[in-house]
This record gives sequence, C-alpha cells and structure tokens, in this order.
Amino acid sequence: MTSGSSASSLLSQLTLEEKAALCLGRDIWHAGGVERLGIPTIVMSDGPHGLRRQPDGGDIVGIGGSVPATCFPTASALGSSWDPELARRIGAAVADEALVQDVDVVLGPGINIKRSPLCGRNFEYVSEDPLLSGVIGAAIVDGIQGQGVGACVKHFAVNNQETDRVRVSADVDERALREIYLPAFERVITQARPWTVMCSYNLVNGVPASQHHVLLTEILRDEWGFDGLVMSDWGAVADRVAAVAAGLDLEMPPNSGISDVAIVDAVRSGALDESLLDASVARVLALVDRAPKAGPAQADSFNADAHHLLAREAAAECAVLLKNDDATLPLQPSPGDTIAVIGEFARTPRYQGAGSSQVNAIRIDEPLAEFRSAVPEGVDVVFAPGFGIGETERDDLLASEAVDVARRAGTVVLFLGLPAIDESEGYDRVHLELPANQVALVPRLAEVNPRLVVVLANGSAVQVAGWGSHAKAILECWLSGQAAGGAIADLLLGRVAPSGRLAETLPLRLQDTPSYLNFPGELGHVRYGEGVFVGYRGFDAVDRDVSYPFGHGLSYTMFEYANPRTSVSGSAETDDLRVTVQAEVTNTGSMRGREVVQLYVENPRSAVARPIRELRGFSKVDLAPGQSTTVAFSLGARDFSYWSVQRHGWVIDPGRYGLAIGASSRDIRLTDQVDVEIPSASAQLDGNSSLEEWMSDPEGAAALRKAIDESGASAEALADEELIRVIGNFPIARLTVFPGFGITKEILDKLGL
Ligand code: BGC
Repeated sequence: MTSGSSASSLLSQLTLEEKAALCLGRDIWHAGGVERLGIPTIVMSDGPHGLRRQPDGGDIVGIGGSVPATCFPTASALGSSWDPELARRIGAAVADEALVQDVDVVLGPGINIKRSPLCGRNFEYVSEDPLLSGVIGAAIVDGIQGQGVGACVKHFAVNNQETDRVRVSADVDERALREIYLPAFERVITQARPWTVMCSYNLVNGVPASQHHVLLTEILRDEWGFDGLVMSDWGAVADRVAAVAAGLDLEMPPNSGISDVAIVDAVRSGALDESLLDASVARVLALVDRAPKAGPAQADSFNADAHHLLAREAAAECAVLLKNDDATLPLQPSPGDTIAVIGEFARTPRYQGAGSSQVNAIRIDEPLAEFRSAVPEGVDVVFAPGFGIGETERDDLLASEAVDVARRAGTVVLFLGLPAIDESEGYDRVHLELPANQVALVPRLAEVNPRLVVVLANGSAVQVAGWGSHAKAILECWLSGQAAGGAIADLLLGRVAPSGRLAETLPLRLQDTPSYLNFPGELGHVRYGEGVFVGYRGFDAVDRDVSYPFGHGLSYTMFEYANPRTSVSGSAETDDLRVTVQAEVTNTGSMRGREVVQLYVENPRSAVARPIRELRGFSKVDLAPGQSTTVAFSLGARDFSYWSVQRHGWVIDPGRYGLAIGASSRDIRLTDQVDVEIPSASAQLDGNSSLEEWMSDPEGAAALRKAIDESGASAEALADEELIRVIGNFPIARLTVFPGFGITKEILDKLGL
C-alpha cells in the first residue's frame, strides 16, 4: 500500500481471486492481507474477560497457550454487577492489553440470552434478560472501541446451548426472537456501533446463521443500520457462496482451496452477483483501515498492577449476597478468634471457564492467603480442604478433618463450587447440582458450627435449595477472575459491601425452568416452546417459587425507596411517547453501599400472552449512610410494546401499565401506573375474520350493520350478546350456512368478501 492510500481505495485493483481470498481469513487469527498491493493483515483474539492472544498457530478451544493477560470476571459475573461503567472500564483495560499485543479486534462480548441454566457457555453470557445483556454488552463495546480497538459482538443469533451447537436448528417464533433473543444485539449495534459481529454456529429456524439473509442483512444492516463487518464463528460456514449472498463478509478460519474457489466459480458462472462479493471485500478493507495498526493507537506496555486492582474491584462488585441471616456477614473477628476456612476452592480457586475464552492469567490471588493476610493480627485462620475437586476417594477423611476444624472455630467460611469440567464451551451441563461430596459436607459442618458462611464459585446457576438452608450466609461470587481471592476477603470482612444482583433466576430445581421440556432438543432441532417466557418472565407467569429471584442481592446496609413520580409527554400515537419515572432512594443503614434500583413495566391484559413484568430500566447508585438520591428512568413506546407476528412490527396495547420500582423482580417497593392511549388500528378484516372480530372493530361493525340494512335483513341477531358469544368465533363467511343468523351471500358481497 503506498503511503497515504487506504486499503479501501484499492478495491478496484483486486483480481477476482484476490477478492475471494480476502473474504477468508489468512490463518486462524489473521484476516486481510494482499502482499501485491501492500494491504496488511489484521489480528483477532478472543475476549472479553481477558485477552487470549496466541502468539503462533493457535486453536479455537483454549487448549494451546496464550500470552499472559489480566483475567477479569467472566460475563455472568459482570452481568451481576449491573454496572455499565464497570463493564466499560474492563473493556478499555482489555483493549489496552490488545494494543500491546498488536491485536486489532477483540472477539467479544458474547451476549446470548441464558435460556437455560444448563448452557455450558452461560459463564460467557450476561443475563437471562435482554435489557441487562444489551446495556452491559454495549458498555463493553464502548470500552474496547474507545481505545481504538475493534469489538466483535457474538454469537448472532439464538445460540443458547452447546449441545450439537454446529448443527442444531433453534426453532424460535418471531415474537420470542424479537422480544428476547435480538434486543440485546439491537441495542449494542445501534448504540455502541461495534466494528464487527460474529454469526453463530447454529441454524435459526432451519437456516444456518452464517447464511441467514434475514438476520445478517435485512435485520442487522437494513433495520439496525449496521455498517461493520460480519465474520463467521470459527468453522460456522456450511456453504460459502450462500453465506456471501446472505451478507457474511469474512469466513474464519479460512477454508482455503474450497471456499475461495467456490466463490470464484460462483461469480464466473453468474450464480453469485459480483457486487455482493465487492460489498464484503469493501467491508474487509474498511476493517483493515480502521485497525489500530493503521493508526497511532499502539502501545508498548500496560499497567498490570492497575488492571489487577480493577479486576479486584470488579470481582467485589459482581458478587451477590444471596442470604445473610442474623447479619452474619461482614465478619468482625477480634484477636483470639478462630475462623475455619474449608473447601479446596479456597486454595485452588475457580475463576474462569473453559474453552475459547480461557485466559492465561497474569497472576492468581488465592482466597485463603488473601483472607489470612486481611484478618486482624491475632485471628487464627485454620484451613481444611473438606473435599476433593472432582475426586472423591478421600471424601470421608477430608470431611471428618473439616468437621473437627469447624467445631473448634467461631465461624466457618466454606468455599463451594462447580468443578472446571462442569462448565465449558462445547457441551452443556445436565443438572444444576453441586458435586455430592460438597453438598454432603454442608449439614455436617452446620451441625457442629451454625455460623456457617458459604462462598460459591460457579459460572451459571446452581441449585441452592436443600443445602442452602444450613448456611447462615451465602455469597455467590461467580467466576470472578484472577483477583477474586482478594475481593472475597474484602467482602467477607466488610471492606466493601456486596452490591451484585442476580442477572439470572436461581430456580428451586431444574424441572422448574421454563425451557426444561425443550432443552437441548432432539434430532437436530430445539424448539423454543416457552416463547417469550424466558427466565423470570416464565417463573412469574406461572407464579413459581424460586430460590432467589432475578435482580435479588443483599447488602450490608439498607435502602429505603420513596416518593415515586411519573410524568408523561408526547403520545404513542404521535410516536413521541416519553414516560419519566422517578423515585428517591436513601441509604438508611450505617455503611456505604450500592443499590441497584430496578424498574419493571407491568403489562395490562392483551390480545397476546405477555409477561407479567419486564425489566425496562435500572440504575446503580452509590450512597453514604444517610445519603439520598433521585433515580430517574425514561421510557419510550418500545418499552410498552410487544412484537406482533401479524403485523411484523411493534404494537402497543392501549391500557393501564404498572410501573414497579424495586430491589428485585420480586421485591417491588414502589408502584405507579401510566395510561397509554393509542387508538387501536382497524383490524384487517376479511371473510376469515370471526363475527366477534368484525363486531369489536368499530369500522367493521358499522360496515356490517350497513350491509345488513341495505340488504333488507334484520340486524337483530347482532344485538343478541348471548348468541354472539356462542357463534361469534365462526369466520363470518362461514355463517351463510346458518340462514337463521341472517348473514347472506348478498351481505358478504356488499362487504367485498
Ligand atoms: C467460539 C467463539 C470464538 C472462536 C475463536 C469459537 O469456537 O464459539 O466464541 O471467538 O471460537 O476462538
């Protein structure tokens, strides 16, 4: 490339073969690159809870080594922070490390919805809720791209399981697609404008995501205005020519000799319009032009200590205090006290999941050592492993030793969690339980020492019901990165008040989860039978008890909510509806703390089945004791809408909507209401529309009465409510078979049917 020229300006100089080759990566982590014209390659690496930069060669599942990088909390932890500013800072830190490693595009964030707690990659995803997933996802993208590095939002779309992930068809209805599975992507694309999007492996309603024209072009580009590059997940392309035609720009890694030849042949034979290939090549070249190496944004080093501190702050902010009976936490040990730390995870921490996101952490804080160094002098911290991770031969011995240690202590801190083998890319879990050797230990310890605190390490929901009742306090720490050990000490000892909130429901048992009967599918199909009733939307709809609801999390301080106010401007009809909801929140406890104020909209009765309440806003506030603040949310028409499969668009039902402000989806502290008025659009009435539908539409009813009058028949039957109830669900054209009812062919003719 001559100095001053951009890669994009060289499109017209490329041969057909070069263009085809540019739409394939150069190798597993590189794309771009045409030596003849001096077009450079760009480098991609996995992320975003840390960089997985493989210096040479490489693999897709994290088996090969990668250069050391800061391991931040994984997405399920970050989702529990409900703090977009934290997510943005982590994105920026990962990008700083990317710049040092010559990485141009970080392959994250992953924002697929947690449809089932069993999904093996849930630790890489944010939430069961689209708003929370989208807000955190957009913040990560902002953070990465703010440093001049590209982000890649993935896996587009409807990739919610690992079982048969490359071949399975996610069979999802249009409404669930629009209301649950797409909005997080829509938010990230429209608000954070990521440089790239990665398509998923799976099929969506029978069409591979890599060749899904509706998703990759009609929705992503035409509707949402995406102007970046779409790449494949690694090995997701089945038919390269169909993929180009659908809008997939870059195949990763390259299937050279097959895909490039197929593209060239298809253009030559006329099967593929060359302008489609050119559009993809232009996007590859535009990405090359955007890459940091095309500009001044490179760096020689990053501040590993600062990143470690950020990782520690983040890990503390992501932890969710599920329960805290008798204010057992924070611990306030005095010299002479003994605390028993039990559980192999205290010295062999689990801090991330397996697969392509796996980071080679720069350093790892051991929870036991961190805790020991954080307690006041004179406090004795005694350790017993209690169980083996994944190995059970010595269980009896380890458990007896742990019971002895617990008996002699004032408090027991028990570290439990899922073994690494349970959570990975590539396969799903089959149950929600912690290993039996861990669960068995809980009542035995509680029996000898009721001051039992459990610290959990797992990337996705585990079953708490059963063993949970034996613990006084439970701190869910997720997979919280390399600095989790220090963060746990900070939380246990009250240096920081927990402020994480559940981004996913913790069910009582697997069988209660909305997707239970349809996960992970069979014979190549997984039917999303629960429709829009995913996560708390499903649990609430059937009023099912849960262990801990979506949005739940305790603090060491207390918050009071007061003074809800709602104001409305504009209208749904004129498309400028704005509903502003405000409330005051006060820290009424004695410690500084953060509260996540959540706003749910409660839907009125509707023609379609709608969730009882849906998260439409949240705000995390940091308050000193006695301090108050006003939290404000701004809602638009979309927040009251559902996706109509008849109209293929968003529709608002007129009516009274509840506005529920609370500390979780089931801890609503304040309520208000708003009346949304919108004239219901006249239905599209035809001969197949029922008599009831004709009668409930003002224009339809008037036309029907007029036609009956003009034909000289009596409209008396239409006034008979009982009769209409009985026969009203018949298509109107079919009523000619009941002469007594008065709908004749002449009337139908007059109605144009
Ligand atoms: C994963 C992607 C990842 C890619 C490259 C695939 O197996 O699904 O998330 O970015 O590998 O490692």
